[in-house]
Amino acid sequence: MATEQISATDHAAVRRRAEGSATLQGPSTSSPTAPSVTSLLDETTARLRSMHKNQVHREPWPEPSTFDRSAYPEGLRRSAAVQWAGRARNEHGSVHQFSQLLHTFTRARVPGQILGALSRLITDEVRHAELCAATALAVHPEGEGSKAFRFPLPGVPWQPPPAPGPDGDAQAIYRWAADVIITACCIGETLSRPLLAAVETVATDPFIEGVAAQILRDEHLHATFGWEALSWLVPRLDDDSRAWVQGQLPRRFAGFERSTARGVRIEHVAEQAITIDPGDPASPNLGTLSKPQYAVIYFATFESEILPKLQDLGFDVGWAWGARLPLLEG
Ligand SMILES: [Fe+2]
Ligand SMILES: [Fe+2]
Repeated sequence: MATEQISATDHAAVRRRAEGSATLQGPSTSSPTAPSVTSLLDETTARLRSMHKNQVHREPWPEPSTFDRSAYPEGLRRSAAVQWAGRARNEHGSVHQFSQLLHTFTRARVPGQILGALSRLITDEVRHAELCAATALAVHPEGEGSKAFRFPLPGVPWQPPPAPGPDGDAQAIYRWAADVIITACCIGETLSRPLLAAVETVATDPFIEGVAAQILRDEHLHATFGWEALSWLVPRLDDDSRAWVQGQLPRRFAGFERSTARGVRIEHVAEQAITIDPGDPASPNLGTLSKPQYAVIYFATFESEILPKLQDLGFDVGWAWGARLPLLEG
């Protein structure tokens, strides 16, 4: 029977088990007007599946079918699916952003070492998007098709990439790329590491811990790519470009503070002893963090790592940190 040919580690098979379907092929429950983030798990062809698996999956690959839904109340699973579906959208957003950066770097004719390292990041983000979507589906298959699983068009928080100058000069691309790398890698990826480590710490389910651990294996490399690529770019920026990149910092800081600290102010975090403690099976956690936990990780990572490293590269972070405040009020 066709379904017996499907590996136990195939996420599409997990979808079919969750849906109680025995068909080999078939679209997700998403429709053209309401795409679902679980469409990332849809079947294509047997050969593409094999190529994808060889390139993207790696051991130990967390197996969604090992997750025991009956052990947890529906409300807890639904809340967890909201966060995991959101992570799937973010990881897919990284594929979108990094592939735009890669495409633009080819127009600047940067060294192959940069193209190769960045290509690795893109593959990793595909892995993460797939894992997070599979986790959302495993913990709350009843929610597929709901708002929690929405899959809107991905976007970027920066302007479209410029073309090289008339004589092929790459300066405009360098300055654009420096801002993108600061945003997506030096800030975004540096924050990903402690956030994923916290998810792994608070989770009380072995499958969820396995997913967080698998993603965490890659994220340290992604932050390193950002800092190394920025250190390659900064000496290539002329004075105007350097000033322009510096001028972008307040809005980048404010953007992340809004999305990650989620309205929790630094004064609030400083006053409270918010900790990330190992989860207690008596009060199960399927990989969810509270708003204060997101905020404490955000501010601690900014203070201990992101601001000092930007300063070492010559940016005036004291000015930028102060200049973010009016943007937060707006
Ligand atoms: Fe990722
Ligand atoms: Fe990443």
